[in-house]
Amino acid sequence: MAVSKTIAKQIENASWIRRMFEEGVRLKRERGADAVFDFSLGNPDVEPPPAVLDALRRVADGNRPGSHGYMPNPGYPQVREAVAAKLSKETGLAFTAEDVFMTVGSAGACNVILKSILDPGDEVIVLAPYFAEYQFYISNHGGRMVPVETDATFLPDVERIAAAITPRTRAILLNTPNNPTGRVYPQSVLRDLEEMLARSGQPITVISDEPYKSFVYDGQRQPEVASLIANTAICNSWSKSLALPGERIGYLALSPRLRDAAHLRGACAFSNRILGFVNAPAIWQWVMLEAADESVDIAPYENRRNVLCDALAAIGYEVRRPEGAFYIFLKTPIPDDVAFAKRLAEEGVLAVPGTGFGRSGYIRLSLTIPLEQIQKSISGFQRAFLSSALKKF
Ligand SMILES: Cc1ncc(COP(=O)(O)O)c(C=O)c1O
Repeated sequence: MAVSKTIAKQIENASWIRRMFEEGVRLKRERGADAVFDFSLGNPDVEPPPAVLDALRRVADGNRPGSHGYMPNPGYPQVREAVAAKLSKETGLAFTAEDVFMTVGSAGACNVILKSILDPGDEVIVLAPYFAEYQFYISNHGGRMVPVETDATFLPDVERIAAAITPRTRAILLNTPNNPTGRVYPQSVLRDLEEMLARSGQPITVISDEPYKSFVYDGQRQPEVASLIANTAICNSWSKSLALPGERIGYLALSPRLRDAAHLRGACAFSNRILGFVNAPAIWQWVMLEAADESVDIAPYENRRNVLCDALAAIGYEVRRPEGAFYIFLKTPIPDDVAFAKRLAEEGVLAVPGTGFGRSGYIRLSLTIPLEQIQKSISGFQRAFLSSALKKF
């Protein structure tokens, strides 16, 4: 076989979202697109803000001399400086251009930092349920993912994290606002984590993956992880905040308080290069010089969340209203989440089983579908709930 055993096995383990996608294609062919409600993919269904597209046009028309050539691997110095200034304002820390690496999305940033810090067999703690790609990002660089369960409300359980630390622990991967749970980690939990890490005396890097940072509802904000935890490396992108996931633009930022920052900077520039990214897309770096502070309107997402959570609760589902990101992680009325996702698919409703995120008994619903579609899907959620409840008795 041409494909390595490792990749073949990884594809098999990672196929939940793909399976739902294929199921969606089949159902749409059978029933027509209008009768299928696809909550499976976290792909923003809104267009980028006009100011971003205007900046793109200006950059293309301006055609800066030399703007199509190779550049320093971490990106254009002016762009890195602008990102550093934005981060300094947000966190109160003195980021400089040297701390910032423009990357191919947040996924690129995660891979760059993991490549830079892991030796084979090193461990990375990930909080379950987790974004499924993390296991592959970690194993890409010889690391071992150590999943640690969150508490009953999906917040980090600092004592459990402390118990999972071994001499091989090199990093903890945090994601807040969280995919798939929608939880926004509060200051108090981040502080407790920092205190525990300081007590442990081990040089553990907290990798803060923040692509949903601007998606916090009810007028709240995400507390700054880098302000609260000294040893932080931030991974972020404009994939969600500007609805640009296909353009692959993001950054890695090393906190000025990070231990051994000078060595790590050199390592990250090198990793960006040898992972084959070489540098982040040039044109989008220039666009970000002008439009980094823009954001899509999150009000429609908040409204969809409210409508769907209220409707599901009225049916009888046990619903935890997400505070951020754009997912609902819904407890299934039967323990077998895969069976329940199949039952929902019979109703034309596509969801990803929690098993794919390391937590069975739940499904993930992405709020990236139009409100009218959400409203039309409710009767399907109701029929699936009732038939599952009947089976239980
Ligand atoms: C938690 C999380 N991290 C990283 C990514 C990857 O983001 P990007 O498209 O910016 O690489 C995603 C994408 O869905 C995500 O949900």
